[in-house]
Amino acid sequence: MSRHKDKLRMSELTELLDYHSHKYYVENSPEISDFEFDTLLRELQNLEDRYPEFADSNSPTKRVGSDLTSAFESVEHRFAMQSLSNTYSSEELGEWIDRIVREIGEVEFVCELKFDGTAISLTYENGALSRAVTRGDGQRGDDVTNNVRTIGSVPLRLRGNDYPALFEIRGEIIMPYVSFDRLNREREAAGEPLLANPRNAAAGTLKQQSSQIVARRGLDCTLYQLAGDNLPFATHVENLEAARRWGFKISEHTAICRSREEIERFIAHWDCERKNLPYATDGVVIKVNSYAHQRQLGSTAKAPRWAVAYKFQAERALTRLLSVDFQVGRTGAITPVANLEPVLLAGTIVKRASIHNADQIALLDIRLSDMVYVEKGGEIIPKITEVELSERDENSRPFEYITHCPECGSELVRYEGEAKHYCPNASGCKPQIVGRIEHFVKRKAMDIEGLGGETIELLWQNGLIRNISDIYYLDPVQLATLPRLGEKSASNIIEGVRLSKEVPFERVLFALGIRFVGETTAKYLASHFRTLDAIAKATIEELAEAEEVGTKIADAIVEYFANDANIEIVERLRSAGLQFQVKDKVRESNALEGKNVVISGKFTGMSRDDMKALVEKHGGKNLAAVSANVDFIVAGDNMGPAKRQKAEKLGVKIINEAEFMAMISDVDKTEHDESDEQSVAKAANRDKPIQGTLF
Ligand code: IVH
Repeated sequence: MSRHKDKLRMSELTELLDYHSHKYYVENSPEISDFEFDTLLRELQNLEDRYPEFADSNSPTKRVGSDLTSAFESVEHRFAMQSLSNTYSSEELGEWIDRIVREIGEVEFVCELKFDGTAISLTYENGALSRAVTRGDGQRGDDVTNNVRTIGSVPLRLRGNDYPALFEIRGEIIMPYVSFDRLNREREAAGEPLLANPRNAAAGTLKQQSSQIVARRGLDCTLYQLAGDNLPFATHVENLEAARRWGFKISEHTAICRSREEIERFIAHWDCERKNLPYATDGVVIKVNSYAHQRQLGSTAKAPRWAVAYKFQAERALTRLLSVDFQVGRTGAITPVANLEPVLLAGTIVKRASIHNADQIALLDIRLSDMVYVEKGGEIIPKITEVELSERDENSRPFEYITHCPECGSELVRYEGEAKHYCPNASGCKPQIVGRIEHFVKRKAMDIEGLGGETIELLWQNGLIRNISDIYYLDPVQLATLPRLGEKSASNIIEGVRLSKEVPFERVLFALGIRFVGETTAKYLASHFRTLDAIAKATIEELAEAEEVGTKIADAIVEYFANDANIEIVERLRSAGLQFQVKDKVRESNALEGKNVVISGKFTGMSRDDMKALVEKHGGKNLAAVSANVDFIVAGDNMGPAKRQKAEKLGVKIINEAEFMAMISDVDKTEHDESDEQSVAKAANRDKPIQGTLF
């Protein structure tokens, strides 16, 4: 076939595929089979491989994503992305309506569903998607265009010809319940932590580095707001209808309302009916329809005055409490978990619910066989919020909480200030030990492949591991003879263990499982103290100097290193060759050598974390709090007044962002060990003005 003919075929295929994507993803009424669609897509992909010069960045082939990772560039919104003011009560809603009527007179309102996902702003230039940006802080967001292209319902090219040459359309990226359930089933099978709700899942997916993963996750996108200088109509609803014709997915569940009664009816209807929607909603958004009226009403600093979100009460379901299990966590904490008669709640079937602790059981007076209300909060497992007393059996008895560990039989204890009961048998209670080992090997800790929950259980049963350090002294031959393992899995484990010796110190510290030392705290501790020995030696006061470390965490660290059994484990890990200190990053200069610095407030040129990284790159040390040890504070916008006062009292110098930048850019960089190439590149950079609006 000739080159010209191939080019024509490519446009024909593109048009066909766009048409069928719209049928499938937006209209939910496919006209061809998945197989036929894939065949067309493959044909286009083959042609693009042959003629890369004809391939378009908005080609339907881009919907499958790529595995190239890319950092997300932070970009400025052309029009700020405001949020909405919330109301939870009919009275407040009435006041909002009255205020508008007072100011404007009778107006048309538009009621829409409030989709529970993550906000997105799409820019179209000459009918083609050119940019997709997250909300970010409302002024700037992350450019996630490559990921958004993989979402089938986002049109890559618009239909018709009456769209503005340049405009933005905003909406919500959502993860429908079917996709969410599938994702969590996959994560469960892979031993990965479950996602709490479709909102988190959608937001997390959108920030995935690989767009191929995004393409597989089944996201959807519904649009609800246009922004631009040349929108064709003077009302919100007319523009949304136009956007639907251009190919966008616009919700059908929208109504024009002219009175408070009509608005209340819409809310009441959807408060009940939303249970039947295939995606999560958390309220109704009420907007003034006319743009002229919207302009007249204006905005506050945060939100428009012409729109409000009425939030639904959390959905709840009534079901029977069948029994209560008691789980023992890696810290020994006992968590009661309710087994329920299965019930449908917010799109998923619920069989278990958490009850937190004994106090909660007593407070709600939860009894076996009660009918109970369950709700989904921010957590993965729903919780019991109330007992339906009218349905209680007259012979029921108050719940008797357990007094002994269900796993090892030790008598349970309660620590001061803690609501939970604990099993104190840390070194002899199996779920605690296995839990600590599971924590140690997980992806965000030592990331040892091949050592899942079942294998750890198997090693435990065969007496091969009793604590985390045993992992590094496993015998490959012995491993291979274990039932269900075999040589291949055994060598995978040994290889995973070997590789984990390169895991950076901050993750080793997190993996140790010291109480309250999560991933972030471990990072701060590692960057502050640099070695495990320094942390082990530090006093409570010294520990509390590190960012985000309060006395509770400091106490837990001191307690950990005061325990001989832990010291023995730590020493065996050291002998095995784990990273016990921060590997030095490339120093850019010694300008801040020996200086203790506090970074405080908001900066114009970069984030606070970037500023802190600069301190380290130039040899300084970041401190969290203002004290006499601090050499100077770099103050951005809105540094807290208390901090400022303290600094002034102690006579600690306060400098601004520009002075700080000057401090680290003035130094003679040649005194450092750099390759010639690096020195030349840096010397060239030195003459450039500092980027951003610093001065
Ligand atoms: S309008 C200036 N309409 O709710 C107002 N927002 O809590 C622009 N949301 O950031 C937003 N459904 O992410 C609007 N039908 C809807 C919405 C909606 C969900 C989200 C949106 C916004 C958040 C505010």
